[in-house]
Amino acid sequence: MITIKTESEIDALREPCAIVRDTLAYVGSLVKPGVSTEELDKAAERYIRMRGAEPSCLGYCGYPASICASVNEEVVHGIPGERILREGDIISVDLCAYKNGFHGDGARTFAVGKVSEENKKLIRVTEECFFEAVKNLRAGTPLYDIGAAVQAHAEENGFSVVREYVGHGIGREMHEDPSVPNFGKRGTGIRLKAGMVLCIEPMILAGARGVRVLGDGWTAVTQDGKCAAHYENTVVIREEGVEILTL
Ligand code: MF3
Ligand code: CO
Repeated sequence: MITIKTESEIDALREPCAIVRDTLAYVGSLVKPGVSTEELDKAAERYIRMRGAEPSCLGYCGYPASICASVNEEVVHGIPGERILREGDIISVDLCAYKNGFHGDGARTFAVGKVSEENKKLIRVTEECFFEAVKNLRAGTPLYDIGAAVQAHAEENGFSVVREYVGHGIGREMHEDPSVPNFGKRGTGIRLKAGMVLCIEPMILAGARGVRVLGDGWTAVTQDGKCAAHYENTVVIREEGVEILTL
């Protein structure tokens, strides 16, 4: 069931979304060679709680951490641990915060020190995919125009899109309808309505399509071992455009 949020519900959503935005920026400031992904997780958890919110991911379906920290070939849902970041790595950080009865959700991919031109491009194109997707978005837009825009921009740049994981609605639950794929055919799908709140989250692969999940049951990695990037914001559909809550 797709929920349409009232203006007062959207106001309640602003705070968890602002906390997500600020936590991502804070975590980004800590990313450097020699730091473990576990340290980033602990710092994020402390910060989210300091702002009076809860880390929605912690305990979600048994997930053991407050953030997802996916390094290089890890696509999404990397479990923070002892892995130490090294110069040249890229790390995708995805996190959610719960406050005022609502969840906010966002992700960024950060470079660790100096990274290759290919990885710089991957990070840039993944962000661009998000902005391509929201550029013409408003009430009445067919849902799969989002994925069509993401896919077109990724593939034009020689990258591929993840099929196994998708964006989603959000609100009182972290995952609500509808699913928001990063691929699809323009002009198809339900028509978006004002007051829908969506997480639009391009997950882009430098190499070929195809991901698999590691033995920990969470970490999704590329089949070909090439790098992946992730960029996500929580977005309100408006009559004349979108409002991005996690920027
Ligand atoms: N932002 C992630 C998502 O949209 C949240 C995953 S939390 C986890 O799926 F607990 F499932 F890892
Ligand atoms: Co999400």
